[in-house]
Amino acid sequence: MKDKQFLMIPGPTPVPESVLLAMAKHPIGHRTPEFSAIVKEVTEDLKWLFQTNEDVFIYTSSGTGAMEAAIYNLVNPGDKVLCLIIGNFGERWAKIAASKGAIVEKLEVEWGKAIDPRALKKVLDADTNKEIKFVTLTHNETSSGVTNDVQALNDIIQTHGSISIVDGITSIGAIPLAMDKWGVDVVVSGSQKGFMIPPGLAFLACSKKAWKAYEQCKNPSFYFNFGAYKKNLEKDTTPYTPAVSLIIGLHTAMKLLREEGLDNLYLRHARLAAGLRSAVRAMGLKLFVEDNEIASNAITAILPPDGISVADIRKTLKNDFDLVVADGQGQLKGKIFRMGHLGFASERDMIAAVGALEMTLQKLGYKTNSGAGTSALISTMMEL
Ligand SMILES: Cc1ncc(COP(=O)(O)O)c(C=O)c1O
Repeated sequence: MKDKQFLMIPGPTPVPESVLLAMAKHPIGHRTPEFSAIVKEVTEDLKWLFQTNEDVFIYTSSGTGAMEAAIYNLVNPGDKVLCLIIGNFGERWAKIAASKGAIVEKLEVEWGKAIDPRALKKVLDADTNKEIKFVTLTHNETSSGVTNDVQALNDIIQTHGSISIVDGITSIGAIPLAMDKWGVDVVVSGSQKGFMIPPGLAFLACSKKAWKAYEQCKNPSFYFNFGAYKKNLEKDTTPYTPAVSLIIGLHTAMKLLREEGLDNLYLRHARLAAGLRSAVRAMGLKLFVEDNEIASNAITAILPPDGISVADIRKTLKNDFDLVVADGQGQLKGKIFRMGHLGFASERDMIAAVGALEMTLQKLGYKTNSGAGTSALISTMMEL
C-alpha cells in the first residue's frame, strides 16, 4: 500500500494539510498591501519563535544561505573565526568562513559528543589579544543527533567579547533557544525543519552587537545584505521577489505553532525523542548518543544490529511501510540511521514508526520481542 509517504528524515519534514492548502492557492503580488500584511505578521511570529525583539530576516534560500549571509555580512578577510565543530554542519561554518578569507581556528570533538564549555573557555582564555572576533556553533548537530549547550557556550563567548553565530537550523521550534535572554548574537534557521513548511526559506536574526560588525564589514553580501533586508522590513517587504507561496504557508504554520505554545512545542519534541530512545533500548539496539543530557530532541541516530545493514533497514522501511529515514552523513554513512522527529511530528507518528521499525528488523532476521519497543515508547511518552 503506497501513496501515504511518511517522512522521518531530519528535513524536509512533513507539512500539515492546512499549510499545504494555503500554499496551493495562486501566488499574490509581493508588492501588495495584502502580502505586506502577511510579512508583518509572519515577522512578529518569527520573533516570538526565535525569542527575540530583533528583526528576523526571511531569505529565499535553504538554511545554508542564511549561514552564508551571517558570515558574508559580518566577517572581513583576515578576521579570526573560531568554529566549534561536533559534526558535519559545524564543519560547514568553517568552510564558509574560509571562503570569505577568514582565519579559521577549530575546536573540534569526535562526532557524537558535545562541546565541553570548559574546553571553549580554555581556548578563549588563551586568546589574550582578543583576536577571535567570531565564534560559530551548531545548536543541534543533525549529523550526529547531539545538542550543544548554547546557553553555557554563549556565556563564555560573551564574556570574551566575541560575537556568537549559532546554527539553529534543526533547533528553532524544537529545542529551546532564547536568543535575547541568553544574549546570543546571530541565529539562523531553515524552513524545512521545525517550521512545518517545505524547503526554500531561511531565517536570520541579528543582535545590535552583531549589527555593529555588519557596519564594519567591507564587502557584505549583495543578495543577503543585512542593510537591504532591514530597510525593506521597515516597509514590511523584502528587497527581491520572495518565495511568496512559502511565506503564505509559513503564515498558516506559525498560527499552529502559536496555538501550541512554546513550552508545549518543546515538551512535545522532548516526549517524542525520549520515547524513541527508550524504544531503541528496549529493542536491544544501540543509540549513537547514549548520554541523555546531550541527545537531540529533534533527531535520533541509531546503530543497526550486528549483521544487518543500514541500507537494508532503510530499504525495508521504505518499501514495506512507505517510511523514509535518513542514512548517516560523511564518516557515519552506512554506520547509523537517523530518524527525524521535528516539526509536524506526533505521538501517533512515533507509534507507527517504532512499530514499523520492529517489523522491519524482524523481517531482516533480528530477534526481538514483538512490541517491546512500542511498549517502551508508549510508557515513556505517557510519563512526559
Ligand atoms: C544543523 C544543520 N545546519 C545546516 C543545514 C543545512 O541546511 P540546508 O540543507 O537547508 O542548506 C542543515 C540541513 O540539514 C542542518 O541540519
